[in-house]
Amino acid sequence: MTRPILLNAFEMLVPAFQSPGLWRHPDDESNRYTDLSFWTELAQTLEGGGFSGIFLADVLGQYDVYGGNADAALRGGVQYPMLDPTLITSALAAATERIGFGVTASVTYEQPYLLARRFSTLDHLTGGRVGWNIVTSYQDSAARNLGLSGQIPHDKRYDRAEEYMDVVYKLWEGSMDDDAVAADRESGVYVDPEKVQGIGHDGEHFTVPGPSLVEPSPQRTPLLFQAGASPRGQAFAANHAEAIFFIGYSPQMVRGWVDNVRGELVSRDRSADSVKIFAMVTVIVAETDAEAQAKLEDYTQYVDPEAALALFGGWTGVDLKGADLDSPLEHVESEANQSALASFTKLDPSRVWTVRELAKFISIGGRGPVIVGSPETVADELERWMDEADVDGFNLSSAVRPADQQSFTRLVSPELRRRGLLPEPVKGQTFREAVLGKGSRLAEDHRGAQFRSAGVASA
Ligand SMILES: Cc1cc2nc3c(=O)[nH]c(=O)nc-3n(C[C@H](O)[C@H](O)[C@H](O)COP(=O)(O)O)c2cc1C
Repeated sequence: MTRPILLNAFEMLVPAFQSPGLWRHPDDESNRYTDLSFWTELAQTLEGGGFSGIFLADVLGQYDVYGGNADAALRGGVQYPMLDPTLITSALAAATERIGFGVTASVTYEQPYLLARRFSTLDHLTGGRVGWNIVTSYQDSAARNLGLSGQIPHDKRYDRAEEYMDVVYKLWEGSMDDDAVAADRESGVYVDPEKVQGIGHDGEHFTVPGPSLVEPSPQRTPLLFQAGASPRGQAFAANHAEAIFFIGYSPQMVRGWVDNVRGELVSRDRSADSVKIFAMVTVIVAETDAEAQAKLEDYTQYVDPEAALALFGGWTGVDLKGADLDSPLEHVESEANQSALASFTKLDPSRVWTVRELAKFISIGGRGPVIVGSPETVADELERWMDEADVDGFNLSSAVRPADQQSFTRLVSPELRRRGLLPEPVKGQTFREAVLGKGSRLAEDHRGAQFRSAGVASA
């Protein structure tokens, strides 16, 4: 018997996210990505379909590895141009009541004091419906535009991020007591100075003496998402994440990561199921299997393999411009996204990928699987993934936007409800409550909880 399936939509405020070329499809509306209404309507559609969250990805540079420049990425609108996801989140909250928002922000390029302020603000304005996707970033182009000569090496980024997390936990969990804000008209005290403590952080990378700028928000620490799948990335996730995303094209590949990260959790005295794990999938659904297959064939006419290779170059740091299309893909070590490359080279010994196959595969649904079929077929396949990969839900990507999300909520959500598999958030719940099924504050066994001051309750 399959567990309830958590649904999270995987999105980015760009013309082409995970399916390069599909913006040219006649039904696609991605060119509306700068209109607020595109996103508020999408959030409402997803909420109606029982999604617990909408996840907003973000990067801070161009995909300029392929051919040594960003031309192919620009022509294909591949994750460029883009908008800032934090700025749209309160507007999405105003247009919805239950769905949560997983917002990406980089610990490599943002000061913790400012990031803590932004997320606390969002947690207030969304009524506790905000999550943070903690990323260390993987693009050299971002590093160069943010004052560095190149990227901080891969594992060092994570080491630095460990200290970063302690700083934000101190700000969120320990710098203001629950009753610090008195707002007492009679005594004339708005904030009780006795109940606000500077965090006095003076570490290797960050110095933050003062307290949080924002008063305690419903969740204090936003729900923490993370998606690193390299060994160092998984260790970081086990230290901090409450929800983890993986992208792998087979349940077996994802299962390897899931087993490993659950083991890492236990070795840190966190329970193996204290983290919810999501696998990315793209679903192409229609009333019947045959119609869904026809839809896939139709979509395939619009793919843009060159833009797909530009995307791959940005993820992995590997430039495949001019490569023999029928040559096998080889593994190299890189400072970029290590698991993205490994999934097509060393993680699946049963499969050798040629460059041509890779470009075709990535063109619809990026590095994840594409599930095609009727609502029953799709639901069966999602259940199979839940069992075989041992995941708790899915990060749903789409090829034609927002038509695919509309089809999913119209066809698949009712099928999941019929099977009793859709745990839907309820009004008034925080994002943490909806996803983890527990309280609105960090669990006692989470690292961040140790930074709580005496005047801060755990729930
Ligand atoms: C589902 C998913 C979503 C991700 N979203 C972002 C993102 O929005 N921005 C970003 O910089 N990295 C993103 N990443 C990349 C990860 O944060 C991480 O940098 C990447 O997996 C490389 O880490 P690793 O080398 O430890 O695997 C995402 C990864 C996954 C699997």
